[in-house]
Amino acid sequence: AATKKYQFDVQVSNVSRLCHAKPIVTVNGRFPGPTIYAREGDRVIINVSNHAQYNMSIHWHGLKQYANGWADGPAYITQCPIKTESSYVYDFNITGQRGTLWWHAHIFWLRATVYGAIVILPQQQTPYPFPKPDNEQVLVLGEWWHGDVEEIVKQGNAMGLPPNMSDAHTINGKPGPLFPCSEKHTFAMEVESGKKYLLRIVNAALNDELFFGIAGHNMTVVEIDAVYTKPFTTPAILIAPGQTTNVLVYANSAPGRYFMAVRPFQDVPIPVDNKTATAIFQYKGIPNTVLPLLPQLPSPNDTTFALSYNNKLRSLNSRNFPANVPLKVDRKLFFTVGLGKSVCPTCINGTRLSASLNNITFVMPQTGLLQAHYSNMKGVFTPDFPDKPPKAFNYTGAPLTANLFTSHGTRLSKIAFNSTVELVIQDTNLLSVESHPFHLHGYNFFVVGTGVGNFDPAKDPSKYNLVDPPERNTVGVPTGGWSAIRFRADNPGVWFFHCHLELHTGWGLKTAFVVEDGPGKDQAVRPPPKDLPPC
Ligand code: C2O
Repeated sequence: AATKKYQFDVQVSNVSRLCHAKPIVTVNGRFPGPTIYAREGDRVIINVSNHAQYNMSIHWHGLKQYANGWADGPAYITQCPIKTESSYVYDFNITGQRGTLWWHAHIFWLRATVYGAIVILPQQQTPYPFPKPDNEQVLVLGEWWHGDVEEIVKQGNAMGLPPNMSDAHTINGKPGPLFPCSEKHTFAMEVESGKKYLLRIVNAALNDELFFGIAGHNMTVVEIDAVYTKPFTTPAILIAPGQTTNVLVYANSAPGRYFMAVRPFQDVPIPVDNKTATAIFQYKGIPNTVLPLLPQLPSPNDTTFALSYNNKLRSLNSRNFPANVPLKVDRKLFFTVGLGKSVCPTCINGTRLSASLNNITFVMPQTGLLQAHYSNMKGVFTPDFPDKPPKAFNYTGAPLTANLFTSHGTRLSKIAFNSTVELVIQDTNLLSVESHPFHLHGYNFFVVGTGVGNFDPAKDPSKYNLVDPPERNTVGVPTGGWSAIRFRADNPGVWFFHCHLELHTGWGLKTAFVVEDGPGKDQAVRPPPKDLPPC
């Protein structure tokens, strides 16, 4: 195993898109930021130096960080932010993971421009469990705003309403030629007839679940969230914010130029799509004057495609890559996801939108929760997050008009080391139904079941897939439905659990799990590094 070292200089750079330039926060002046390359088993050391006027931190999304939450990165959860003109070294080992993951700033909306891919190759001499690609390409999907993102968020919060959505989607930071002034901001990938390519696709968008496809080509899905899957072929993939998907593409169509395209899947509110990003899949030797074709993507409200696509995702579950699904459950949790209201004296109407799990809107602490847990500090959080909502109701029935005010607190679930946990995440119709990509830090989990409507504890568990369910770190809970996930709590520490739509996270749709230390010496949270940023 090797040690890979990276220097990340966080700085403000002028970037021009959609006909005008604006200052954005970047890493090393690049947008998207640099890709981290490593192999399974490597140690990675990244020195993050913050030269921007914002406090910030970086999260290595999907890396398990065994007993080493200090390197996980979410601000106020596992560390305090890196202040302007300070540095912090993220030092971690990549154990038992290989595939595509990504990194992003983890404070407020800064990840709008501060993100990049992580490529973990299998160990030397270990082949992929699918045909060897001739070449690989990282494709990071994102969003672009005309305005200053932090300003838009502040505005939205002051009004108590959702802020403006982005003005364009992007592929590797570029919106593509369907937008004004974007001819030169078009990503192109050159391919050779007869060869096969592995595309490593990351959804780094703040708020949109996305469809992606290539005109004239099918894709074979082989991996999601850095876990191999049973291969299946599809004309389009669906990818939620936080998720990654690897596909194989065979360049076996008539040599030409083809659009790769990205557009949102948003089943509520009624979809409007004027943000389709495109990039070019270009056969070698074809002149740039040939006009590419657009792929046929599912329509923005195609829930049928979404459900059937998600149902095809299965863990590979081979001899070398078994799916170790917990069959027996020690701890059963049921979290309702709701949109409600909070009192806001400075807002129009005196209220603002808030979001909650089990009717609790999470209040961000002033001290890192992992430090508080590690050193037994009192008064930072309470380990009393309820295992169930306060009362059962018809979760997805007509919107409730009763009391929509949420309660507030920094309340966490305490989980015994090595216990097996089942968590059912249930969407509700308190204000409206919406889909939510939930991400758990420090773990992968198995998505053993999913459905629309209300979860039925008497019937639904009998339909769980306990053989080869998809294993991932972010699950798209369907609009007006539920997902059941299982994991073994074998990674001690404090692990953030939140909706990966930045809008919803900002409204409080988050909590954290405190997984207790195990009996073994290496089963306890390690001592914090010396340069851990102080609060
Ligand atoms: Cu990719 Cu806590 O996030």
